[in-house]
Amino acid sequence: MSVESDSLDHFRRWFDAYTSRFFGDDECINAHLRMKQEHTERTCAQIRGLAGHLALDERQQQIAELVALFHDIGRFPQYAQYRTFNDGKSLDHSHLGVEILRQKGVLNVLPRDQRQWVETAVEHHGRKVLPAHLNGQGLLFAQLIRDADKLDIYRVVIQLYRRYRADPEHFPWKLELPDEPHYSPAVFEAVARGQLIDHTMMQTLNDMILCKLSWVYDMNFAAALARLRAEGFLEQLLSFLPATPAIERLGAQVLAYVETRVHQGVG
Ligand SMILES: [Fe+2]
Repeated sequence: MSVESDSLDHFRRWFDAYTSRFFGDDECINAHLRMKQEHTERTCAQIRGLAGHLALDERQQQIAELVALFHDIGRFPQYAQYRTFNDGKSLDHSHLGVEILRQKGVLNVLPRDQRQWVETAVEHHGRKVLPAHLNGQGLLFAQLIRDADKLDIYRVVIQLYRRYRADPEHFPWKLELPDEPHYSPAVFEAVARGQLIDHTMMQTLNDMILCKLSWVYDMNFAAALARLRAEGFLEQLLSFLPATPAIERLGAQVLAYVETRVHQGVG
C-alpha cells in the first residue's frame, strides 16, 4: 500500500482531530497551539514546493508532505504540559512526536520502509546536525523537512519580531531572551565563520536574529535558498540588527553565500 492522496486526507483529518483536543478555555494556550497548526500547514506548502523543484516522484512528494504534517506533532502535548516550546526546559519534541505516532499507530497503514522514513525525518528535524549514519530516503526526507521547517520559521520569527517592535508593551508572547541593544561577540564570530550557533550561546534577542542568519549554512537544497532569497527574509532579519559596519559586512557575506549556492543550483 502506498500513500494515496485520499490517505493524505485521512492523515490530515487525524492531525486536526489529534491537535484540536489540546485547545481549551485558555486563549493564551490556544494562540500558541494555533500558531503551531498554521506553522504545520505552511511547512506542508513549503515542502510541496521543494519536492516539486527536486522533481520527486508522486509517492516521494506525498511522503514529504506527510513528514511536514507530523514533524511538530510533539509540540501540542509539549505545550499543553509544560507551557513552553523550549525543548531544553521541557522535553525533546521531535522524539515525543515519533512516540506519539507509534503509540497511536497512525502510520501503520504504510509499508514499513515508508513508515521508517517518516519517523526518521520527524525524529531528526530539530537536531542541530544530522547524524552521519543517515542515508537514502530517510536522509532525503530529513533534509527536506529541515529546510521547509526553517523557511516557515523565518516567516514566523519575522512576523513576531515586527509585532513585538511595534508594541512591546502589549506583545502577548513571552520573550525567551532579553531585548538588549547589543549582541554577543561569540555569536557574531560564529556566523562570520559560517558556523551554526549553539542555543546555549544566545543571550539577547539580537543573538537569536544572528542565529537565524547562520541557518543559511545549514540549508540542504539550493531551491530552499532560492525561496529564502525570493521572500527577502534575510534582508528583513538584517534590518532588525544594529546598523553597524560590522553587521553590514556580515549581512553582505551571508547574502553572497546564498547567491553563490543558488547559482550553483544542485538541488
Ligand atoms: Fe519542530
